[in-house]
Amino acid sequence: MKTQICIIGGGPSGLLLAQLLNNNAIDTVVIERRNKEHVLSRIRAGVLEQGFSKMMRDAGCGERMDKEGEVHSGFQIADGNRLKRIDLSKLTGGRTVMVYGQTELTRDLYDARERANGLTIYNVEDVNLNDLTTDAPVVEFSVNGETEQIYCDLVVGADGFHGVSRKSIPKGKLTEHGRTYPFGWLGILSRTKPVSSELVYARHSRGFALCSMRNKLLSRYYIQVPISDSVEDWSDDRFWNELRSRLPDSLLSSLETGSSIEKSIAPLRSYVAEPMSYGNLFLAGDAAHIVPPTGAKGLNSAGADIYYLYRAILDRYLRDDKTGLDNYSSKALTRVWKTQRFSWWMTSLLHVFPEATSFEKRLQESELNYLLSSENALSLLAENYVGLPY
Ligand code: APR
Ligand code: PHB
Repeated sequence: MKTQICIIGGGPSGLLLAQLLNNNAIDTVVIERRNKEHVLSRIRAGVLEQGFSKMMRDAGCGERMDKEGEVHSGFQIADGNRLKRIDLSKLTGGRTVMVYGQTELTRDLYDARERANGLTIYNVEDVNLNDLTTDAPVVEFSVNGETEQIYCDLVVGADGFHGVSRKSIPKGKLTEHGRTYPFGWLGILSRTKPVSSELVYARHSRGFALCSMRNKLLSRYYIQVPISDSVEDWSDDRFWNELRSRLPDSLLSSLETGSSIEKSIAPLRSYVAEPMSYGNLFLAGDAAHIVPPTGAKGLNSAGADIYYLYRAILDRYLRDDKTGLDNYSSKALTRVWKTQRFSWWMTSLLHVFPEATSFEKRLQESELNYLLSSENALSLLAENYVGLPY
């Protein structure tokens, strides 16, 4: 089959780009390794920068987000029993974030694609990207035991960290940067009233904790755990007791506990692959970069890639101008590295590092004390949290 843009990956990156292009009569085919139910079963972060929310509206997919999502003008940082509100709106001249689950956002994008009769091929296997450095790339894959080819102009690799796209770039052309963190996040979802109406990022000598939510009756909590831990080590009761031990006393009376409807441990890593393009292959989102979830930048960093790539593709087709595509990688990476810095900084600030020296521990305390006592430092935190400009 033939199309203009073949998008590998039916996650939020691929689907958002597909919808934006579809609205401009640019033909796309999305191929996805899993089925739709599996993609929508994934529990992921739920804090959207304004730029991302705007793209959802521009794509015609923002209605439910605006109806069911919550606009947050601040969040809290807890340090032991100290609790400080970060007034995002005051610190950034009125900017806010949208709390809306990535699962719901992905569902909205799938629904929009189906309404637009966009072609999404599920359960693909053995995906191979060929002739990427020619003007006629070919994506080959099998589905239902049949081998298929997609002849296209451009290939977008939105297939996540474990996808095939980045691995299709010759080793000699790719430089990879990264680090892993000596801990993971144990997360649970529970049908309980959130402990606070705003997110709470808690630094504690026992380890980091995060109180988030999906809506007023669905809470999402995380605690830092040793990377060697497994979910089986953590009963619900043990989780709630550990979370309780890391939160300020002032929050405990409003902590509603209950059964977990989802429980998982995620490793934390920082990762960037450079460049983000090779011939007519363009990487976007987790296919090119990963951040620790502390700053809620995974989806938002993918959003910036989509913003740049969408405009570059429009220029190519509507104005016969390939400058945007030629500059995509360098432009995207400039913002990627700013997001990497912020996510690494916020992770370094709020977590217990088992191997930290006494000097490093005191430095971390000083960094937090400086942050919480300086309007300038808080402004830097706030402008990164609400999202740097595209
Ligand atoms: N062929 C087709 N699809 C693939 C392949 C492949 N070889 N490999 C992976 N995929 C699919 C995955 O099943 C997944 O649905 O690509 C999609 C990639 O989606 P994500 O991993 O969600 O990545 P992305 O769309 O960039 O979204 C980034 O979502 O996963 C979170 O933490 C991430 O918040 C970040 C955001
Ligand atoms: C979440 O709600 O899953 C979430 C929120 C904020 C973060 C990370 C995760 O920084």
